[in-house]
Amino acid sequence: MEPKPPGWSMTYGAAFGDTEVVRVYHVRPPYPDETITEVIRLAPGGAILDAGCGIGELARRLAPHVERVDAVDVSEPMLSVARRSAGGGRRNLRWLQGAVEDATFDPPYDMIVAGDSIHWFGWPQAVNRFAELLGNAGVLAIVHREWHLDEDALERLRPVFARHSWNPDFAPLEPVEELERRGLFVPLGEHVSRPVRWTPTLDEIVDVHFSTSGCARSRIPHPEAFARELREAVATSLSEVDGRYELEVVGTIVWGRPVAPKTREGRRFRRVVSDLKSDTDPWTESRRPVGPESAGARVTIEAQVSDSKSDTEDGKQVADRKSDTETAVDVGPRQRNDEGPARAGPSFP
Ligand SMILES: C[S@@+](CC[C@H](N)C(=O)[O-])C[C@H]1O[C@@H](n2cnc3c(N)ncnc32)[C@H](O)[C@@H]1O
Repeated sequence: MEPKPPGWSMTYGAAFGDTEVVRVYHVRPPYPDETITEVIRLAPGGAILDAGCGIGELARRLAPHVERVDAVDVSEPMLSVARRSAGGGRRNLRWLQGAVEDATFDPPYDMIVAGDSIHWFGWPQAVNRFAELLGNAGVLAIVHREWHLDEDALERLRPVFARHSWNPDFAPLEPVEELERRGLFVPLGEHVSRPVRWTPTLDEIVDVHFSTSGCARSRIPHPEAFARELREAVATSLSEVDGRYELEVVGTIVWGRPVAPKTREGRRFRRVVSDLKSDTDPWTESRRPVGPESAGARVTIEAQVSDSKSDTEDGKQVADRKSDTETAVDVGPRQRNDEGPARAGPSFP
């Protein structure tokens, strides 16, 4: 299998264990309420695993609405903040320190939610694990929040990131697309929230960038120069009122099925999703993109069982899938809502 993009290797992910990164992490804008509501709708009342929970924003906001949440992170400093943050002591919320690839869990889960974290995990081990941990109808929800939506501002910021980042391997790739391309994930639907206003100060904007792996204060060679250039770029490209900058945050969820890469016999297989097409599975319900006054956009992909021979493994055709215990699934290209916000490109910090 094609290796994971090198810019997402654990070498860079390890920055989330740095005290300096953890100290400013809370400055990131919250996920839009609409995104949280949609995640709750996808796992009504059930058991959730928050994978790569960081300071636990998703876990703490989801816990009051579901049966239980287990939240795992490899970074103890992140978990330490999570436990002490508002809602971190709920009885149905358990904090687990460890790597998703080998930590001890309490399955089954109705949903595994990965907020800005899936790209840091070991592929395919983590995906394999997720497939085991989810019940027959459980879903993996890949959640992302984007706060650089202004293309002009991004144009000014990109050279600053490129000059100062300690990650020369970084490439602006979409984790969902990379997982799909490797046959590790079958998406079933997508929800893009309406933009939510976020008005940080210049200091907060600087700290948000120090909370990312690539610009971690303790890792980049010249943090003061980075902060200065960032301030200049922001001040010249964004409008400010009373010391606060007008930004917007958009939350995106793509939910679907993780695909265990190999059976014990070494054959590639994909999980059956045809059984998800029943009335009792809310996430297979087709929805129209919504109008301006309603909530954000939800587009569900029709999954079709197929014995197509177009897929290949190691250059060879994968044939006779019908004889596998699990049947191959072809899904059409994921649709996006035309009315949704234009995304400035992935940052996946
Ligand atoms: C960008 S943060 C996202 C945190 C949180 N989910 C959020 O939405 O704000 C990525 C987190 O994934 C964690 N992480 C990276 N690799 C991991 C792994 N293999 N197992 C568990 N956690 C991991 C990092 O320690 C970090 O806290």
